[in-house]
Amino acid sequence: MIAGIFKEKAGENRVILLPETVAELIRKKVEVWVEKGAGDGSYSSDEQYIASGAKIKTAEEILAGADLLLRISQPEEGWLKKIRENQVWIGILNPLTEKELVQQLVARKLTTFSLDILPRTSRAQAMDILSSQATASGYRAVLDAAMNLPTFFPMFMTAAGTITPAKVLILGAGVAGLQAIATSRKLGARVEAFDVRTAVKEEVESLGAKFVEVEGAKDDKAAGGYAVEQSEDYQKKQRQAVHDHAIKSDVVITTAQIPGKAAPILLLKDTVEGMKPGSVVVDLAASTGGNCELTVDGKTIDHHGVRIIGQSYYPSTIPKDASKMFGKNALNFMSLLIDAEGALNLNFADDIVAGTCVTHNGEIINPRVKSLFS
Ligand code: NAI
Repeated sequence: MIAGIFKEKAGENRVILLPETVAELIRKKVEVWVEKGAGDGSYSSDEQYIASGAKIKTAEEILAGADLLLRISQPEEGWLKKIRENQVWIGILNPLTEKELVQQLVARKLTTFSLDILPRTSRAQAMDILSSQATASGYRAVLDAAMNLPTFFPMFMTAAGTITPAKVLILGAGVAGLQAIATSRKLGARVEAFDVRTAVKEEVESLGAKFVEVEGAKDDKAAGGYAVEQSEDYQKKQRQAVHDHAIKSDVVITTAQIPGKAAPILLLKDTVEGMKPGSVVVDLAASTGGNCELTVDGKTIDHHGVRIIGQSYYPSTIPKDASKMFGKNALNFMSLLIDAEGALNLNFADDIVAGTCVTHNGEIINPRVKSLFS
């Protein structure tokens, strides 16, 4: 079997597999083709891919000749018409929000896997790109906040006086939020965190942050560890709690997401206007609407002296390690699709294979995606 790695869309610096991971795929008896320049953004040259055993090709050659088509970004305009039923696409297709794309994949009878819908089970942890990339986001968000803040993060006691530590509030203590707590603590900030899932209180406290409690959250046990939408009454209490803590903070990092839905609004305009001038908000949920009412996706704006950074694409700003982690996740997933002879073997009885499959044979396979069309 031949696996083909495409160059990513403009502005995306990651690549789906670094040369070191390509070498591992080749050891599984798979031939690997790499589009010329695919690794440029992550500092991996064509020569390094060749040294790993890959062949350099054009996108057209990969589309025409590879069996496994690998790319983090969605296919380019016009590619869907060229991909055939016996090829397999693996990447991030955002099927929970990209309904039109899913319809096209069904109509073309393509076999597609989207790693953002991978089941979040213990066995799937080593394939979980949402977790690995959220780690990069949480870390980078804190560094960005620190660079934009007009004050220090750590406490200093110097001959020039005492500097008090920055106060950081993290909204949403999932994978990105927990990494943001850890990074803020390493930089010496005082950290508070809030999440609707009270199950994370212990994790938050173990990282040295204070958990902000709001009574009455809806049970999320049936949602597989994800947050669920909350009642109006709870949201009111939550907004008040967030307001009270945010106006005392120097930095607010928001990470709250609900899969397949718009991000919950947690930080209102009034709250931002109550924050100290010079404070910084980093909104990691910007691409799904943002947790802050004023967020503009992909932009940094100033509102009453508060800087609001709408940024959901931090992994691309740390491309080497983000690609390393993404590639390892993708390789672990691909291992489920490759037999001992390096041939494609799609076993839909495997819950991870079926759960990650968007479309196959003209049907939608993932139940969450399917439910969007019923
Ligand atoms: P996410 O990116 O979907 O959301 C980020 C955080 O925002 C979550 O902790 C969520 O509870 C929180 N949130 C949502 N609505 C909120 C609101 N209105 N106010 C405050 N916070 C809100 O979540 P992420 O980080 O991708 O993972 C969520 C959970 O999934 C993990 O903590 C874990 O329990 C589970 N998980 C399981 C894995 C596995 O077993 N393979 C791997 C990774 C995560």
